[in-house]
Amino acid sequence: MTTASTQKWNWTFDEFKQIGVDFADPEQVKTYDARQQTNIAREKQLVDRLGITADDTVIEFGPGTGAFALAAAATGAHVIAVDISKAMLDYGRSKAVGLTNIEFVHGGFLSYKHEGQPANFVVTKFAFHHLPDFWKAIALQRINKMLQKGGTFSCAMWCSHFLPIKLTSI
Ligand SMILES: C[S@@+](CC[C@H](N)C(=O)[O-])C[C@H]1O[C@@H](n2cnc3c(N)ncnc32)[C@H](O)[C@@H]1O
Repeated sequence: MTTASTQKWNWTFDEFKQIGVDFADPEQVKTYDARQQTNIAREKQLVDRLGITADDTVIEFGPGTGAFALAAAATGAHVIAVDISKAMLDYGRSKAVGLTNIEFVHGGFLSYKHEGQPANFVVTKFAFHHLPDFWKAIALQRINKMLQKGGTFSCAMWCSHFLPIKLTSI
């Protein structure tokens, strides 16, 4: 786990810097949770689809307010929820009182150092697009190393698409 900036040189990407909505702000976190209507029961559908069980180790990057991480933890799996926002982690932690199989770690795709048993699942929802494309490739390499052979990477992210031919000027 690390809380250090990932900006090593002036060209490296500092993933701890907030982009867009400031998720370091506890008020924004509350607003996000209300607006998105995050729902642990609904996240159970993805947990079931992935086939997560009590024997598994699951890393989630960008858990936000924690609905998926909590649904995964309800199976008995060991869940590690990794987010760059301490306010998000605090919010998730407040919903996990009494649970011993879920850890909330301050870190990110580019900085979290996984120790112990390789993960069966790495999951991320609507967080991967925060990385510029080059750094997505670095993150994928890091995720690959965290996963055990045959493990699953599940990623939902925003992406835009367009036909380059429609780009008449730049
Ligand atoms: C739009 S929210 C999505 C939260 C949750 N996954 C959901 O589906 O509701 C994006 C989350 O990703 C986190 N995040 C942004 N960049 C990150 C990074 N490099 N590594 C880990 N988490 C990151 C943000 O702090 C925020 O909690």
